[in-house]
Amino acid sequence: MTRTCTILGIESSCDDTAAAVVRQSGGGPEILSSIIHGQTDLHADFGGVVPEIAARAHVEKLDVCVTQALSAAQLTLKDIDAVAVTAGPGLIGGVVSGVMLAKGICAATGLPLIGVNHLAGHALTPRLTDQVPYPYLMLLVSGGHCQFLLVKAHDDYTRIGGTIDDAPGEAFDKTARILGLPQPGGPSVQRAAETGNPKRFDLPRPMIREQSGNMSFSGLKTAMIRARDAVIAENDGLTVQDQSDLSAGFQTAVADIIDKKSRWALTQYMALNPSQSTFAVAGGVAANTEIRARLTALCAELDIAFVAPPLVLCTDNAAMIAYVGVERFAAGQFDGMSLSARPRWPLDTTAAPMLGSGKKGAKA
Ligand code: KG4
Ligand code: ZN
Repeated sequence: MTRTCTILGIESSCDDTAAAVVRQSGGGPEILSSIIHGQTDLHADFGGVVPEIAARAHVEKLDVCVTQALSAAQLTLKDIDAVAVTAGPGLIGGVVSGVMLAKGICAATGLPLIGVNHLAGHALTPRLTDQVPYPYLMLLVSGGHCQFLLVKAHDDYTRIGGTIDDAPGEAFDKTARILGLPQPGGPSVQRAAETGNPKRFDLPRPMIREQSGNMSFSGLKTAMIRARDAVIAENDGLTVQDQSDLSAGFQTAVADIIDKKSRWALTQYMALNPSQSTFAVAGGVAANTEIRARLTALCAELDIAFVAPPLVLCTDNAAMIAYVGVERFAAGQFDGMSLSARPRWPLDTTAAPMLGSGKKGAKA
């Protein structure tokens, strides 16, 4: 793909308000700017993201982000070829805020509008960072999602497994909460685990023996609560070492599950006979150093290239949304002013909903 284009990306589907400019040229894609305003402080007292607070904060920050992204790229809207915006899946108030802003910019400037699936943003990040050729295997592992995808084109995905209940990021966040560690839970559990003994607690690895790409994390969450309660009952409280040991045990259990299931998913992928084989990870949990190390070792063993984008591009950002815009722009795929915000939007629309796919039904 050599057609030069410059795309403004906008992201507001969860608790990060973001805007970015990505340029595609003969030399490949380049991030000209990427601005992220996180909302961690706003949600800190509530133990999770409060959708209404998130939506209001997006409304306040979106135009600031866009202005900052353009100015950091030393561009104006006149230099932009299209506006790509996350149109789902996500918290609907935030998604609507972004879509409305993008529509406003397009209505005022006549620029084409591109509605982007947030999960496609994560899934195509290895192409933005490393120009990975199709088809590749992607493990998308975040606060709301966990799935193995065969990525065959920017609009062609086959899901070959995923969680049947909670996402690992959600389990990291819950684990932090029950241990009294700060949110977001992933980084704080990882930090605590650095000085912990992963073998002190005997924690389950649900579904690990099943020959499939499916995973389950809710039983592990429950086991964590039981283990914590047992320590408190015995010692009248949790010491810092208890927190570290529980964190290390949890993190290693998640890494074991992901390692084993990745091995299975890689065998499915290799059956496609890709000329260059690549396993890529994305999503917030892909920032986890133990999980990255395990997957790096697995790919070295199987002689498969492993791509893990830089941490700042693993968590939510708008550069990944702008990049999906680049591929959609090249394919001439645009949306009109009727573009709607979608709380649920699976990437593989033909895959059956995951068994027991949560209280709210299949999300993706
Ligand atoms: O992709 P993301 O920014 O947002 C979506 O869920 O779409 O992922 C956020 C999730 C949170 O649950 C956070 O705790 C987790 O990613 N996370 C991590 C780490 N950094 C962020 N989980 C484990 N280890 C980390 N280092
Ligand atoms: Zn995300």
